[in-house]
Amino acid sequence: MKDIFKLDGKIAVVTGGAGGIGEALAMGLGYHGATVVVSSRNREAIEAVARKITEETGSEAVAVPVDVTDEQSTADLMNRVKEKYGRIDILVNAMGMNIKHDAFEYPMEDWEKLFDVNVKGTMIACKAAGRIMREQKSGAIVNLSSVRGIRGYTGGNTGYCATKGAVELITRALALEWAPHGIRVNALGPALVITPGTRHIAENPELAKKYASAVPMGRIGMPEDMVGAVVFLASEAASFVSGQTIYVDGGLTAA
Ligand SMILES: NC(=O)c1ccc[n+]([C@@H]2O[C@H](COP(=O)([O-])OP(=O)(O)OC[C@H]3O[C@@H](n4cnc5c(N)ncnc54)[C@H](OP(=O)(O)O)[C@@H]3O)[C@@H](O)[C@H]2O)c1
Repeated sequence: MKDIFKLDGKIAVVTGGAGGIGEALAMGLGYHGATVVVSSRNREAIEAVARKITEETGSEAVAVPVDVTDEQSTADLMNRVKEKYGRIDILVNAMGMNIKHDAFEYPMEDWEKLFDVNVKGTMIACKAAGRIMREQKSGAIVNLSSVRGIRGYTGGNTGYCATKGAVELITRALALEWAPHGIRVNALGPALVITPGTRHIAENPELAKKYASAVPMGRIGMPEDMVGAVVFLASEAASFVSGQTIYVDGGLTAA
């Protein structure tokens, strides 16, 4: 049997590709043979990740800036990839943000900022890559949800939970609408993962213990833990999988 997890010859775009999780996913796609287009707003950061992919994995990688809240910027990214490589096989939307506020006081400007990036940005990126995938009659999209897409949470996370719930339903609705076009749309649902934004938790023994004890497997996730599920969803191994969220969460959502 051939290696159905191999991504040789595939062209992958990773939005948020220099983020804590996005960098690991971009590296993972490179290690499995894909050519990787690393994308976000910070040009220096995405160039550094693209260099790292080329040096460490031997796969080709380039950096192309994007702001996913801007339709033109996102269409420009996808069109540049199509011009350079002729196709887009994989889109991983690893961009995202959180703004926490007490729900009684939640400022609606922040609510809108959060929805702009996490919800509108996901739809814009799916739409721009999806149009190219439709022409090819094939493609695999993986959106970043969270365990907070199906489990509520305290600590000012109302807006974040709402955006991730929306990402899950965008994923399922697109999976239905685009199945006839050969496009699979799935999501990854991590529990807490240690990234530059959450490192303060790992560095505080009491906090780290609190978060780890909520996870049946008794530890907090690392960005590398996320790679296997995304490589699977992007690959031929998942050729009959669409509209699903894989929760990579140490068992958290089993309860
Ligand atoms: N870390 C966790 O514990 C955790 C758990 C569950 C789910 N997630 C989800 O996983 C994803 C990645 O999280 P992370 O922890 O890796 O976050 P991160 O380190 O903050 O990375 C987020 C990335 O999104 C990019 N981004 C933000 N706004 C953007 C925009 N308008 N256009 C293009 N790119 C944009 C940022 O790059 P620029 O600033 O350069 O644009 C950055 O590279 C998010 O969707 C997050 O909600 C994270």
